[in-house]
Amino acid sequence: MSDPIFRADSLAVTYTSSRGPVKALEGLSATLGQGEFLSVLGPSGCGKSTLLKVVSGLLKPSGGSVTLRGAPITGPRPDVGIVFQQPTLLPWQTTLDNVLLPVRTLGLDLEGGRAKAMQLLKLVGLDKFASHYPGELSGGMQQRVGIARGLIHDPALLLMDEPFAALDAMTREHMMMELQRIWMAAGKSVMFITHSIPEAVFLSDRIVVLSARPGRTIREFEVDLPRPRTLGTMAEKPFAEHCNALRALFSDLVKFD
Ligand SMILES: Nc1ncnc2c1ncn2[C@@H]1O[C@H](COP(=O)(O)OP(=O)(O)O)[C@@H](O)[C@H]1O
Ligand SMILES: [Mg+2]
Repeated sequence: MSDPIFRADSLAVTYTSSRGPVKALEGLSATLGQGEFLSVLGPSGCGKSTLLKVVSGLLKPSGGSVTLRGAPITGPRPDVGIVFQQPTLLPWQTTLDNVLLPVRTLGLDLEGGRAKAMQLLKLVGLDKFASHYPGELSGGMQQRVGIARGLIHDPALLLMDEPFAALDAMTREHMMMELQRIWMAAGKSVMFITHSIPEAVFLSDRIVVLSARPGRTIREFEVDLPRPRTLGTMAEKPFAEHCNALRALFSDLVKFD
């Protein structure tokens, strides 16, 4: 890999709560290459959203280091875009204005921002919905507005925290295809957080697997399936083999009772 754009070394986070300290992450290490699609895969509660908070500069780690483009992450920064599990759109603002939100909060050029927003709405297939309000859009469409908003300020890194978890199964498959297409067209480095094995295998170049809480890196997987991957890819043997290898890993790790 050429110089990674993002690097986490032995990252640790301990929350202090009224019940005492909660170790959320301990020994998480990962790198993200330029233009790479990386998934961080781990069971519920293992510290994935905690990682997102650290990478977006909202939470200080208790140990280890995180760097973006060679510089330590010490607070929120404009070269990161975030897409959350819920679309978190402002219901009283149009699609276009919702996409423009980071342009306004970062004080960027609004005229240029509008043109860029229209390009991105085209990219996510919503250019005809620029003047619609969130309540007039389906869940999948709202999530695509969230993706356009995450890209509007041309971030070096796009962080996505289980962005499709709240969608129904058919919309989720459609959004996986859409995200692959958008990623291939936009050429961004993506860190995609998920607890879904097929989602991680379908989308990723590489997968970092976390243990149950406190999350630490236990394994890295290359996904060498050719692109563009299609719905047919999921019916093929290599796809199933990748998923099975990950499932076996988790069945050793997480005991369900
Ligand atoms: N502010 C907080 N205070 C105390 N514990 C927290 C806080 N936020 C998260 N946790 C705990 O840290 C662990 C990891 O949480 P989280 O990062 O949200 O996991 P994930 O996103 O993988 O489901 C969980 O056990 C959760 O209860
Ligand atoms: Mg989470």
